[in-house]
This record gives sequence, structure tokens and C-alpha cells, in this order.
Amino acid sequence: MVSLDEAARVLREGGIVGVPTETVYGLAARGLDPAAVARVYAAKGRPTGHPLILHVLDPEPYGVMDARARALAAAFWPGPLTLVVPRRPVVPDAVTGGHDTVALRDPAAPLLRALIERVGPIAAPSANRFGAVSPTTAAHVLADFPDLPVVDGGECVVGVESTIVDLTGPAAILRPGGVSRAEVERIVGPVAIGGRTAAPGTLASHYAPRARVVVTHDPDAVAAGLPGRVAVLRARPPEEYAATLYAALRALDAQGVDVIVAEWCAEEGIGAAVNDRLRRAATPAT
Ligand code: TXA
Ligand code: MG
Repeated sequence: MVSLDEAARVLREGGIVGVPTETVYGLAARGLDPAAVARVYAAKGRPTGHPLILHVLDPEPYGVMDARARALAAAFWPGPLTLVVPRRPVVPDAVTGGHDTVALRDPAAPLLRALIERVGPIAAPSANRFGAVSPTTAAHVLADFPDLPVVDGGECVVGVESTIVDLTGPAAILRPGGVSRAEVERIVGPVAIGGRTAAPGTLASHYAPRARVVVTHDPDAVAAGLPGRVAVLRARPPEEYAATLYAALRALDAQGVDVIVAEWCAEEGIGAAVNDRLRRAATPAT
């Protein structure tokens, strides 16, 4: 664990650090430094060409914010919403994967805001190894990256990643997350689900623990019929399910269970994001 001062020093020198956000922990580098951003890809084992989110306190220097983008930003920033907009030239290809768009998020977590204030915009994917469950505590980050300097901000309050809205054409939700579809539609009208851009969060098998995951409306009946060490993950109110989901998957994995039988969340509010992650966790790795 490191202090904010130490984290800022590492970032200024082109290094990477684990940082808390309100959604999940991020693997942070200075976003305008291509060599630092390359270290993020290398550490994660993430294929290059998969773009990163640029965390900013002011989007204007980095992306072209149209009226929809400004309205969404006014409604939900700082917070768990990412906007894909046309990039400005200052944003390096290392962040955008060479695309002519950039994903921008103004995060709510105070420690991350303080870091951005000190070192400028921060590029950060979730601080897990590629394809694994996202971290919601500093200990989760250290489990995946034992030598990484991490700023401890406690447990992430939202618990699932930001909602990504693509505004480069008709508004489309690329990934459900901390802001619900209904909340987005209240600001910009009807939005499509899914989009033009392939993204790692949209690969079929992502967010997957080692154990097999089965999702059902009737976990007790399903669990009773399965062989091996079977654990049940019961539904709870959507916000609570979201806040505890990744920690629960990691804890059950650590216990060495063979199968996690998870109950679908009520599909309301952040429940859509919970069910999206459960669906992906349940897809067998290929
Ligand atoms: O809550 C979050 O969004 C967390 C915290 C750390 O901010 N970050 C996160 O990053 O989930 P990551 O890298 O795990 O997921 C970012 C997603 C990826 O699916 C990526 O492909 C997509 O955002 N993305 C980034 N730039 C994009 C772009 N220009 N166009 C389309 N999708 C983009
Ligand atoms: Mg991720």
C-alpha cells in the first residue's frame, strides 16, 4: 500500500499504481504518457488495441462533447458513467487503441480525483488480470499484482464497472453499469444496447472466476442436483448485489469450490449490470 504522495510520484515517473474508484479498482498510468500506458497493457496481459478509459476532471481538452454528452455529464458526473466521444489530438493512440474516439469518465472517488489533480488525466482499466474478476478492494488488487503500489480507498461503493455510452452515432450502451439504462434514457431519450465497437468487456467470457458459474432463478434446486463442491450465491437488492458480487466470486474461488450457483438479480436499476456480469461469468472460457 502507498500514500497518495507516493502514488503521485510513481505516476509522474511513468510507473503504474492501483487506485480506488467508486466502481472497481483501476490499474492507473498517466494517460498522456504512451510509455506509461504501455506498462498497463503489459502488466494486465491485455491485448493492445483494446482502448482504455481516460479518467478526467474536465473532459473538454480530450474529447468533443456534444449536447448529449454535456447533458449526461451534467446529470451523472462525477460518477460511474463513461462516454465514448470523438477524441482530441492530445490523447495518445496508446489510450484509444488507435481509434478516433476516446472513452472519458469523471470519477467520484475522492482519492482518484486528488491524484488526477496532481498528475493530470489517468488511463486505467480495471486492476485485474485480463479476463479475471474485477477487484473491489485493495487486497483483491494485490492478489493479482503482488508487487504493485496500491492506494487503499476501502471497498468500492458501486462494485461493478461504469456504464459505457457510445455517442459517436445514435446513443448506444456498450456496457451496462453503475448508471441504469432508464437513467440514461431520461436524459437523452431511447438508447440502443450493444454497439459498433468491439471491447474486452464485451468478449463473451470475461469477469470469470476459476469455478464454473451457473445462473438460475432457483439456486437451491439447481445446487442440489450438482456434484462436487457447490456454493450458492443468493440474490439480494440490486445495489447490494452489485456492491458484493465480485468480492463474493473471489471469496468462493479462494475456497476452492467447483461450481458457484448464482441467483439472477432483479432486472431493475443496477440489476441489469449485475445480470450482465453473471451472464459473462457463466460463459465457459474458450
Ligand atoms: O468503472 C470502470 O469503468 C472501471 C474503472 C477503473 O474506471 N474501468 C474499466 O476499464 O472497467 P476496463 O478497461 O476494464 O473497461 C473499459 C471498457 C473496455 O470494454 C473498453 O474496450 C471500452 O471501455 N472502451 C474504451 N475506450 C473505448 C472506445 N474509444 N470505444 C469503445 N469502447 C471503449
Ligand atoms: Mg475490466
